[in-house]
Amino acid sequence: MTEHHMDEPAFDAAYWDTRYRDSTSVWSGNPNPVLVSEAAELAPGRALDIGSGEGADAIWLAARGWATTAVDISNVALDRAADRARAADPDIAARIEWLQQDIVDWTPPPATFDLITSQFMHLPSAQRVVLFARLAAAVAPGGTLLIVGHHPSDMESGVHRPPRADLFFTPESIAETLDPAQWEILVTDARARTVVGTDGAPTTIHDAVLRAQRRPSAI
Ligand SMILES: C[S@@+](CC[C@H](N)C(=O)[O-])C[C@H]1O[C@@H](n2cnc3c(N)ncnc32)[C@H](O)[C@@H]1O
Repeated sequence: MTEHHMDEPAFDAAYWDTRYRDSTSVWSGNPNPVLVSEAAELAPGRALDIGSGEGADAIWLAARGWATTAVDISNVALDRAADRARAADPDIAARIEWLQQDIVDWTPPPATFDLITSQFMHLPSAQRVVLFARLAAAVAPGGTLLIVGHHPSDMESGVHRPPRADLFFTPESIAETLDPAQWEILVTDARARTVVGTDGAPTTIHDAVLRAQRRPSAI
């Protein structure tokens, strides 16, 4: 079980199931913009989507031909995502495997995926470091690791964020964990995006973006 502070919820399966049950749509239903911009030109292969939520990213990948494994802790989210995939197109749905796992305790198969995407998976740093190392190990030679999160600078931007700096990360902090003999770092970015802030006004936030390619000769 994830360690948590007394004054905040445990971000466990029960928390996420309740959050998804409380709303028919928690997220926009659109694929994440950084996934679209960074993965659109990649040749489809095997993809792993970490924390797949309501499935918009997995559906977008499968529609482009990716054989996609979508992992989430919440069965409510996974059921909703699978329904949406079937409604979009049975051929798309057939290319997605929906997998309930707590990724804190799960190790994906090594050197397997041509693309691993993790969008807005915010874990305490000790767990995050382990997760990102496992994800890196699961990328096949020549494959792409794409990690996106809320940039730490957002904590001063006026949008709602949990007041725990430990949950947020810079792309550089991930890049420095990747062995240069095995990885080419293609993007470390704080990418600006405009959203509606807590006061209703447009606010600029930044996505932490790490894109790296495992060298084809790695392993
Ligand atoms: C902030 S949401 C992002 C959802 C999706 N990636 C997106 O960008 O729309 C985080 C997702 O990760 C899932 N999640 C949180 N902790 C998890 C864990 N330990 N194992 C697997 N999934 C988890 C949640 O259920 C939720 O769907």
